[in-house]
Amino acid sequence: MKKLAIYPGTFDPITNGHIDIVLRAAKLFDKIVVSIGKNPQKKPFFSHAERCELVREVIDSLDLPNVETGNFSGLLVNYAKNIDATIIIRGLRAISDFEHEFQIALANRKLYAEIETVFLMPKESYVYLSSSMVKTIALNDGDISLFVPCAVKTAFKKKIGGKK
Ligand code: COA
Repeated sequence: MKKLAIYPGTFDPITNGHIDIVLRAAKLFDKIVVSIGKNPQKKPFFSHAERCELVREVIDSLDLPNVETGNFSGLLVNYAKNIDATIIIRGLRAISDFEHEFQIALANRKLYAEIETVFLMPKESYVYLSSSMVKTIALNDGDISLFVPCAVKTAFKKKIGGKK
């Protein structure tokens, strides 16, 4: 049976750290669906539609035959069932991520016994990186080139420019 894995996230915005996880996962599973959640608990800077478009553009540019994008709202496990995914990939950057991720992984397994969460560690140089950090730098006119792909930098310029 083909191993279909979901890499879910808010991706507000997608960063080089997320891309690093995608590249690692692409070597391990038959197919990865990078899935953008609506996540009403967070107040994203980019709308769900904007995040989906941006992630699609970035993932397409990687040209990985077994990686595609998707989107969901509501419970992650319901989405996993709908697309026949049995693996959830999450990045684990530091011990501080662990408690939250452990809790969610166990809750997801209670809700859907077939699902396994697999944690991957990003490259050391990305362990400090977060989407919030990128937003803080971009919204204060800092340079985010080292942290995100070009498309994300352009999207910030467009959105911030439009608000000025
Ligand atoms: N590189 C860079 N940043 C990374 C990263 C990496 N490799 N791995 C994680 N992060 C950061 C993100 O940038 C993000 O930073 P931020 O908090 O500054 O925005 C943070 O880690 C976590 O964000 P993300 O990975 O997007 O996950 P999340 O905690 O927002 O959760 C969902 C997103 C969609 C997986 C989760 O909300 C979900 O499953 N929602 C559906 C409801 C549900 O089913 N819940 C579970 C049952 S209770």
